[in-house]
Amino acid sequence: MVDLAYRSLADYKQAKQQASAQPEGFWEDIANQFEWHQKWNKALTFDFHKPEVKWFLGGKLNITENCLDRHVKTQPNRTAIIFEPNDPKETAQHISYKELHSRVCRVANMLKKNGAKKGDRICLYMPMVPELAVTVLACARIGAIHSVVFAGFSAAALAARINDADCIMLVTADGGFRGAKVTPLKDIADEALTHCKSINTSIVLKRTGQEVAWNDIDVWWHEALAEVDDLCPAEIMDSEDPLFILYTSGSTGKPKGMVHTCGGYMVYTAYSFQNVFQYEKGDIYWCTADIGWITGHSYILYGPLAVGATTVMFEGVPSYPGYDRFWEVCAKHKVNQFYTAPTAIRALQKHPVDLVSKHDLSSLKVLGSVGEPINAEAWHWYDDNVGKNNCPIVDTWWQTETGGILITSLAGITEQKPTYATLPMPGIQAVLLDNEGNELVCKNEGILAIKHPWPSIARTIWGDHERYKNVYFSAYPGYYFPGDGALRDAEGNYRITGRVDDVVIVSGHNLGTAPIENALNEHPNVVESAVVGFPHDIKGNALHAFVITKDAVYDNEALVTALRALVAKTIGPIAKPDRIQVVSGLPKTRSGKIMRRILRKLASGEFDQLGDVSTLLNPDVIENIKRNN
Ligand code: WTA
Repeated sequence: MVDLAYRSLADYKQAKQQASAQPEGFWEDIANQFEWHQKWNKALTFDFHKPEVKWFLGGKLNITENCLDRHVKTQPNRTAIIFEPNDPKETAQHISYKELHSRVCRVANMLKKNGAKKGDRICLYMPMVPELAVTVLACARIGAIHSVVFAGFSAAALAARINDADCIMLVTADGGFRGAKVTPLKDIADEALTHCKSINTSIVLKRTGQEVAWNDIDVWWHEALAEVDDLCPAEIMDSEDPLFILYTSGSTGKPKGMVHTCGGYMVYTAYSFQNVFQYEKGDIYWCTADIGWITGHSYILYGPLAVGATTVMFEGVPSYPGYDRFWEVCAKHKVNQFYTAPTAIRALQKHPVDLVSKHDLSSLKVLGSVGEPINAEAWHWYDDNVGKNNCPIVDTWWQTETGGILITSLAGITEQKPTYATLPMPGIQAVLLDNEGNELVCKNEGILAIKHPWPSIARTIWGDHERYKNVYFSAYPGYYFPGDGALRDAEGNYRITGRVDDVVIVSGHNLGTAPIENALNEHPNVVESAVVGFPHDIKGNALHAFVITKDAVYDNEALVTALRALVAKTIGPIAKPDRIQVVSGLPKTRSGKIMRRILRKLASGEFDQLGDVSTLLNPDVIENIKRNN
């Protein structure tokens, strides 16, 4: 195992100092802990105005040699992945580094044999089974760019992502198990592919054994795999070659394909993983995310594997077969570090606490939280019942775009503070800005921004560098703008207050309101719509859609059902609004812009906090909305 962690507060302080005195030397020292075919000739070039960021220029490597080959030399029999299936009656799998290496190489050869090569984009639409992890790494092995699409997305969403990146290959499965549900992944993929021209081959893994239709481009995984061996030298990649694309929602209808590159992403995910969770040799670490999201990419796969850790991969959901599934799995595998989302904690908190206490959780050392602000009640429930007030909680703030955790405490090393993500990691220069872009000092509240690049910052949006510039670098020139607001206490701890744009975080999932509105507007009876978030006690936020219809229907259940189904079909079930309200009009400015601030207050029931509405083009609609709320 490689040890990149500061194990004491003194080490941490020294690192912080070094990182601010010599930012480049600081990252070079960390990068030197990895295996490179050729060292870089320059650590960093960047210009946030352009914007352009490059790390470890001229460096040559393959991330899978760092995640696999080097551990095969030193700890071949250590378990790399523990796979815990959806159904507790199915046996868990323990995959050693040696076996994982062999499986990755074989799948890499299978991808090559079916026409994939360096630089090609391969779309993965798969359940949370070891083959997904293996395929991700196999793409990296051969230098193909993986684009994992979360298996809860609809056919339309999948097609949009395949087309955006011109993927030449799809890897999917007949179906996937998630709780009591079976998702017909192949059927959904088939529907998507009727809208995609770029895919030449679709490799299909058998997971559920259900009947599937068969097309010319389809190849069974097990048949294709039988034709290849497990000798596959790693493709030598440039530090700045793309490693993967991962889509995230934005404030227009089109998802943004964030591009991460090989060198910087590897360095940062490994460094942050080990420091934040204080992972030690032999520990069992479990992150409950799905590999379809960035948390799964960085902290189920790449970060843990890069340091030689044992990482648990869970196919199921927290509520199946019972609401104690998480705790049962923790006890079963003697999990040491457990990393989950506040929405899961809030959902489990509603159930009797003996569902937690009946399991032996004494192996736990560190708890983590990610994806959305964690409220005080959930924080304390987690601390009391899961951690028994004996496990530090790391509240980790980061994004798909940042590639790795930027603001957090380091477990047991730096101070935690409930509901605060706390301090920027060494090497991360966070600031608060006012609306004009001036840096705020001391205790304050404002817009969160980052002043200097870190190795795993996304380099562009696939195919749309202009949008990358507009979204992240234009509002506050010279800074990376993440889209979140924050407040800072006198000690410099940050508390994230939520999005300042039209993205709503629902159950930890980023949902742009624009694509949902586009979906609603597809309905023949919808003239216009506006979607906003409102506070929800389990999901954190839920969605409220205001729709104007052609025919004045004020309580039409059939319409609401149809609209919810339309959103599920266009985007996926996660984007379905909790509430759909038919209204006579939407509050607009005189220039015709929808006043979302007012809609947010209306959706939250804060009728007395609407502020001055007299300047609206149509103040009368407010009364109508209030009446029908
Ligand atoms: C939110 C998930 C508060 C934030 C890793 C961010 C958080 C967005 C936290 C990114 C946290 C993530 N506290 N808010 N600890 N972590 N967020 O891209 O609004 O799915 O901008 O990445 O989630 O979501 P994404």
